[in-house]
Amino acid sequence: MRAALRTRVLTDYEAMSAAAADVVASKLREKPHAVFMIPTGTTPLGMYRGLVERHEREGLSFALATFFNLDEYLGLPPDHPASYHVYMRENFYGLVDVDPGRVHVPDGAAPDPEAECERYERAIRAAGGVDLCVLGIGRNGHIGFNEPGASFDSRTRVVRLAESTRRVNATDFEGERAPERAISVGMRTISDSREVLLLASGTNKARAVAAAVGGEVSEEVPASALRLHPNVTLLLDRDAASDLGGSASKEGRA
Ligand code: PGA
Repeated sequence: MRAALRTRVLTDYEAMSAAAADVVASKLREKPHAVFMIPTGTTPLGMYRGLVERHEREGLSFALATFFNLDEYLGLPPDHPASYHVYMRENFYGLVDVDPGRVHVPDGAAPDPEAECERYERAIRAAGGVDLCVLGIGRNGHIGFNEPGASFDSRTRVVRLAESTRRVNATDFEGERAPERAISVGMRTISDSREVLLLASGTNKARAVAAAVGGEVSEEVPASALRLHPNVTLLLDRDAASDLGGSASKEGRA
């Protein structure tokens, strides 16, 4: 069954971020014990700022919720400044009332990465599966670090990063060599989530978004797998939606 993707186009990055924070906050209100899978990168920073603000101003609490991150670089210790452990601490986990026992980021420095991947999948299952998975999208259509070609059946595993991804992320490594591999939840792990929210902002995402929404459903465009999922919303700013044509110029189904 191929469902149409619900697509909401917001004026700009701030509006997209506020809408994303709203979705997460409503899920929490409806289900304080909800299980979230959440991304890193530039795109979700505004969403995290919005959630931190709600925590500070309105007392929005994350204490009962469980969080799984999508990925982590292989070989980076959790205190490396470019690690997603540090990113999450600085931008979200360290700023709100999450329960450290319910926060999960893959351990990129685990001595046995394969065992770490299996442990991560087991932890997701033990938590009851993911209620809401929030994703960014790479310029090449990747979700998590599932690069083009990733099997739609994949689970959490060690992946090799696409050269283009390494180039984009190189700026985080200030002269150091950016890692070639990462631990990423799999395509099937993402698809098993009960609801998916994909965020995209900027013209440099427009082609990937258009390919995901309107191209073939293909492992060459990982985000196109979302068309096989019954409950997905794309939150786009106008720039990210600029290759979609008239069909999604405001709010609607693309
Ligand atoms: P970005 O990364 O938010 O930094 O653009 C998104 C991604 O690569 O998934």
